[in-house]
Amino acid sequence: MQIAYFNGKFLSKEDVKISPDDRGFLFADGVYEVVRWYEGFFFDMDSHLSRLKRSLRELRINWAEVDMFPALSHELIKQNNLENQPAMIYLQVSRGAAKRSHNFPSSEVPPTVYANAWGFVPDIQSKESGIKVMLKEDIRWNRCDIKSVALLANTLSFQEAYQVGLQECIFVRNGLITEGSHSNIFFVIDGMLCTHPESNHILSGVTRKNILRIADELGIKIREEAVQESRIRFIKEAFISNTSAEVTPVTVLGGNTIGDGVPGHVTKLIQEKFDSEVKNKHEN
Ligand code: PDD
Repeated sequence: MQIAYFNGKFLSKEDVKISPDDRGFLFADGVYEVVRWYEGFFFDMDSHLSRLKRSLRELRINWAEVDMFPALSHELIKQNNLENQPAMIYLQVSRGAAKRSHNFPSSEVPPTVYANAWGFVPDIQSKESGIKVMLKEDIRWNRCDIKSVALLANTLSFQEAYQVGLQECIFVRNGLITEGSHSNIFFVIDGMLCTHPESNHILSGVTRKNILRIADELGIKIREEAVQESRIRFIKEAFISNTSAEVTPVTVLGGNTIGDGVPGHVTKLIQEKFDSEVKNKHEN
């Protein structure tokens, strides 16, 4: 039996009942977070919590108990017997249930809070050999910095890539490469690590933030500047990042082979340091 968290209670996932008037259902009026459990600790929970607070603030959703997120996540891991395996937590907070209307309901309407946990098998093959990704016009809205559950443009785009056997869809907006449907993207050009700067056109990934710190510690030069699609031929290495893929090399981008078509040197350095930080945390 899977145990979920729902509006203050831990209960069987099957017993969760969400109103058809819920604004998450009617308007995709909500935010979410995905956090990874590494058999003993959550990866950078502090950053996930502060991003969650920011998303809630930007949408003016008031979840007074937001600081419970780390504790309730840990409780879900325990109640689902996931302590000793890689696992994920998904948490969603919507504006709650109220008669369908474009204006917000009164402040008395409580948000709907749902979270669940599941064990997962990391995709080691993709991390070692790299993935092939599609390039496509960014059809999303102008607030990609909010981790909103309104992900239709992301899922439509990802599905297009998936159907032709590609592992991610990378977006291009006004000729500039932004990010993936559910990942950030990095490039190595002229020996420098390049990625789109934080803005309303990307989600500020927790993995992205840690990669930038790791690269800096490794003495790799960083340029937080969007790469033009027209400069793909100058890209020597590419990789995507997110909570589940960590650092996953990209060998083909929009039909163009990157570098020698195998994971690059800088990518591997960053991957190794990322993995060893996680391993060291296990041992402490
Ligand atoms: N997605 N950009 C987008 C659009 C994302 O959806 C994600 C994560 C990221 C990377 O963020 P982080 O490193 O904090 O996971 C960037 C999650 C995993 C998802 O929707 O499942």
